[in-house]
Order: sequence, then C-alpha cells, then structure tokens
Amino acid sequence: MNDATGKDDQFEDRERVETLRLVTNKGEDVEGNLYELVGGKKFFENLCIAFYAGVKDDELLRPMYPEEDLGPATLRLQLFLEQYWGGPKTYQELRGHPQLRMRHSPFKINPAARAAWLKHMRKALEDQKLPPLYENQMWAYLDRAATAMLNTMED
Ligand code: HEM
Repeated sequence: MNDATGKDDQFEDRERVETLRLVTNKGEDVEGNLYELVGGKKFFENLCIAFYAGVKDDELLRPMYPEEDLGPATLRLQLFLEQYWGGPKTYQELRGHPQLRMRHSPFKINPAARAAWLKHMRKALEDQKLPPLYENQMWAYLDRAATAMLNTMED
C-alpha cells in the first residue's frame, strides 16, 4: 500500500516501537526499570521457558522454528527481553542490533500467527503471577510488538 511518502510498505517505521524504550531527558526510563522490578534474569528465563513450552506443541508456530532444539531460540528471546526492559545488553553483544522486523521477515507472520504467538505469551506471562501493574505494562509492549511483526495479511 502506498502512503503519503510514496514508500511501498504498509508496515514501515515500526522498528523503533519494537526495540527501543522511551527515556526522559535525564536518561531515566519512562516506564521504570522493569527488569529489576519483576525479579531480574530469573523472571525472563521462566517467562521464555513457559512461552516455548506452548510453542513446542503449536501446529502453526512449531514448523516456523528452524532448529530442532528450541533452547537457543528461548535464550535469544530471553536476552532480548532482558535488554529491552533495562537489564544487561547481552543480546546486543551476541546478536547485534535487534532489527526484529528484518529478522522475522523469513517467516510468514499473518494475524493467525500473531494471535498464536500472543496466546502462548499471555499464558506464560500469567503463569509468572506478576503484580497487575507490571503485568499490564509488559503485556502492552508484547501486544504492540507482535502487531509490528506482522508482515502479511494473507492466510
Ligand atoms: C507475532 C508473532 C511472532 C512469530 C510468529 C515469531 C516467530 C519467530 C521465529 C520463527 C523466530 C526464529 C527463531 C530463532 O531462531 O530465534 C523468532 C525469533 C525471534 N523473535 Fe519472534 N516471533 C513473533 C513475535 C515476536 C515478538 C513480539 C518479539 C519481541 C517482543 C519477538 C522476538 C524475537 C527474537 C528476539 C528472536 C531472535 C532473533 C535473533 O536474534 O535471531 N518475536 N521469532
């Protein structure tokens, strides 16, 4: 779809939403350091393990993951989320700039794939029993980021 700039990409310019967080002009995180507040590394590890436990048996999603072992994918997601929420920058050190839309371009991410991904993430997040304020903040981001990852509307 052409927009006013003439760019032929209806999903253009979403990369910033996915991988960067807002900071104040003093450099403080607008959303607070959620990494610490939710319990640090262990929280993200548990979240991602629970998420991939759902993906493992998902007929739509499982075939998308190229590796037999979902362990490395679990760790990549964990490290990315840790970094995003104000934790260590290990993801960036190992993988470089996240460029998540680009990294997802080989996969067909339509609304059904997005819904399946979010279903497992919702369950995984609820399993962690966070205080509602933190859970809501995290969910709002994940939901938004999953929308940004859409790259086709075709079935
Ligand atoms: C909307 C539905 C989504 C689908 C179907 C999907 C699917 C995938 C697949 C198949 C991979 C490759 C597995 C790997 O080698 O790591 C992947 C990687 C990854 N995904 Fe997603 N994803 C979705 C949304 C998201 C969202 C919302 C985030 C972040 C909030 C995310 C973060 C990541 C990260 C960090 C990687 C590893 C990138 C790398 O370093 O190579 N994904 N995803």
